[in-house]
Amino acid sequence: MKTLQSKTLLLAMAIYGVSVIAAGAALADVNPPLAPLGDPPIPADNPQSPKKIELGKMLFFDPRLGGDASTGCVQCHEPEQGWGFSDDLSRGYPATVHWRNSQTVINSAYLSGFFWATSAGSLEKQAKSAATGAVAGNGESDVMEARLAFIPKYRGLFREVFGTPWPRIGDAWRAIAAFERTLVQKDTPVDKYLKGDKKALTKQQVRGMKLFNGKANCIECHNGALTTDEKFYNLGVPPAGRWNEDSLAQITFRYEIYAKGVTQELYRKLKDDPGLYFRTKEKSDMGKFRTPSLRYAKYTAPYMHNGSFWDLKEVVNFYNAGGGSNEFTDGKIAKNKTKLIKPLGLSEKQVDDLVAFIEAFSGPEIKMAKPKLPPYAPLPDVAEAQ
Ligand code: HEC
Ligand code: HEC
Repeated sequence: MKTLQSKTLLLAMAIYGVSVIAAGAALADVNPPLAPLGDPPIPADNPQSPKKIELGKMLFFDPRLGGDASTGCVQCHEPEQGWGFSDDLSRGYPATVHWRNSQTVINSAYLSGFFWATSAGSLEKQAKSAATGAVAGNGESDVMEARLAFIPKYRGLFREVFGTPWPRIGDAWRAIAAFERTLVQKDTPVDKYLKGDKKALTKQQVRGMKLFNGKANCIECHNGALTTDEKFYNLGVPPAGRWNEDSLAQITFRYEIYAKGVTQELYRKLKDDPGLYFRTKEKSDMGKFRTPSLRYAKYTAPYMHNGSFWDLKEVVNFYNAGGGSNEFTDGKIAKNKTKLIKPLGLSEKQVDDLVAFIEAFSGPEIKMAKPKLPPYAPLPDVAEAQ
């Protein structure tokens, strides 16, 4: 029966070839609907274990995994600041300002690539690049590894979890990634509503959801269970207020441009963060950034790759106006702004409805007390040793 059906289908496809292909293309364009979030994927080569997670948590909070032992993960991913950093541009390594907004680490376990322009492919690799990147942790791998070896408690935990006599720095990134895979939130009002609890959303939020899926067309990019298609767009987000005024931010930016190998001309002329262009060197990728998840966004202000909007209403007003425009080299408005963003014609009330719905992608704030960090081994008593 089954084969007969598929044969008939094939025949129909042969006869109506063109229109079937057209229908197929239309189907392929259907956006994955919003859905409750399941469990995050766990890579086969880094299985979870309670001890590994405990170790990863300590390391996440431990500034000794950084250059001068002052800038660990938590300094830019503070639990009280939405597990990000509450300023437009993140703080940087001492004496620098980071050039982008710090992203939340909540639910990062579900992503297939990391950073605003997705330059790291796994949480393990991401942790290394954060701890060693010049404007973030600025650590040297061998120095950080040596520090771990001087901390008896870590020595014991690494031995227990990874079976090595001495801590290896690559295992530190594995442990941190395992901890991050526990930083998930999947019981938000939206999840509950989509699982059938119709009381989980307020009437206003339900109106917002209809706009999200319909007139406002947010679902075009913020789709599926994670509310992101993980694709890249230029929305014309304006530079952050501090961008042109803060000389340290400019120095970091020029340094990054130089380190990422753009032409001399662009090094001098670029007026804004070229985003995905850094990776592809394609002009059409100027100013493109990955669609972020809207989960946990209630707590992660300010918004966008450069933190140029301070609350969700500002973001929705930006979309309602059809996005913005940006300029990368002298006097030329970028032509690659996505056609998917256009003026929406939402009323003030509809803007509020949409904001209320976006807030429903967040459950209670995830709070965590900082763990007690183990001390270095005491120095040998020199007088006694003599
Ligand atoms: C000095 C500040 C700073 C430090 C230190 C820092 N981060 Fe970040 N983090 C950021 C910023 C800023 C971004 C976005 C950077 C970008 O896109 O270029 C980011 C992005 C991330 C992301 C990507 C999330 C996503 O949605 O793609 C993860 C995960 C992350 N950091 C984890 C860590 C871990 C783990 C550590 C410690 C090993 C760490 N960070 C240290 C500032 C920092
Ligand atoms: C064409 C794809 C696309 C559409 C349509 C779209 N977004 Fe976005 N959204 C993005 C991208 C890309 C970013 C990041 C842009 C940047 O930083 O330059 C973003 C950022 C955001 C942010 C900031 C999140 C954060 O963590 O900083 C919010 C909130 C948001 N969008 C809500 C919406 C709403 C509400 C709608 C519908 C009115 C919508 N988006 C429509 C692609 C899209």
